[in-house]
Amino acid sequence: MTENLDNIKKQFYEELNSVNSYAELERVRVAYLGKKGLVTEQLKNLRYLTPEEKKTAGMMVNSLKDEIEQAIISYQGTLKEKEYRKEIEGAERYDFTIPTNRELGTLHPITIVQRRIEEIFMTMGFIIEDGLEIQTEYNNFEAVNTPKDHPARDMQDTYYLENGQLLKTHTSAAQNTIMRKYGAPKKGEHLKVLFPGRCFRNENVDASHENTFFQLEGMMIGDDISIANLIYFMKVLLTEVFERDVKIRLRPGFFPFVEPGFELDINCAICGGKGCPTCKNSGWLELLPCGMIHPNVLRMGGIDPEKYTGFAFGLGLTRLAMMKYNIKDIRLFNSGNLKQLKQFTR
Ligand code: PHE
Repeated sequence: MTENLDNIKKQFYEELNSVNSYAELERVRVAYLGKKGLVTEQLKNLRYLTPEEKKTAGMMVNSLKDEIEQAIISYQGTLKEKEYRKEIEGAERYDFTIPTNRELGTLHPITIVQRRIEEIFMTMGFIIEDGLEIQTEYNNFEAVNTPKDHPARDMQDTYYLENGQLLKTHTSAAQNTIMRKYGAPKKGEHLKVLFPGRCFRNENVDASHENTFFQLEGMMIGDDISIANLIYFMKVLLTEVFERDVKIRLRPGFFPFVEPGFELDINCAICGGKGCPTCKNSGWLELLPCGMIHPNVLRMGGIDPEKYTGFAFGLGLTRLAMMKYNIKDIRLFNSGNLKQLKQFTR
């Protein structure tokens, strides 16, 4: 009996060590511990023994059974390890030191202009925020003083979702959220925020109209902000972007969320202000709508308009990129035409 058990044990370990898969392991388990397994047979055979013999033999068979069970369980771990090793050895290897002649990507012209303006404003203490592209009607219109049925909504038709939300028509949609996030500035400080973003309008697309375009909005709020501050920041911005000394002028312009509101023009660089086709002979190019934030907008943002004032401007980033790089067709920006888009590097 003992000899027999020793043989079974030896044979078991030999078989176990050559197992390479879970299926094989199961086969071995059944061969020893299954209904007709070798160890099970031994247990069955106990009944032919005398009660005395049964006691010791029973203990021996059972301990072999336990040992085999344990060995099988722990071999599952070994199998897992074998599998990992196989996976690692078979994995694709990369040699990061091999030189490549693959071309690097380039930044999109709008990204280049946006980053440049962000840099300029960050050096002047502005923080950068970004607003959501899917907005509530409240944020896009009501919170910027454009109630339902206001005629100004007609110029900003957009795409509505089934749940009543919409694709934002201007970066101003973030004004309310930003005011609520930061609140009124402390005494002697200013809330200065720049928030670029993608905007959408229901437009018939042509060389100068797109349904998807970028704006870059800025806002400065404090207890001592006037139009003089607005003019100063706009001049710095434009001088840096165009890398020349620009002249600006303000004309009255209407937007429900500013009072007074302006259209800011810069002097035409092409003719130096004398008049040419680009500036339609006026010597000026319309560039930047802006104004002093309307008291209603401050109030809805949780800021007391009796104590605080502020300015806001909404730069057409896509438009600015067209002017800076002399791009004649707005459709280029969303075209994915890399041949053209990658020409712009700074
Ligand atoms: N949101 C306005 C537009 O898209 C632009 C604007 C922003 C005007 C801030 C004034 C102040 O038409």
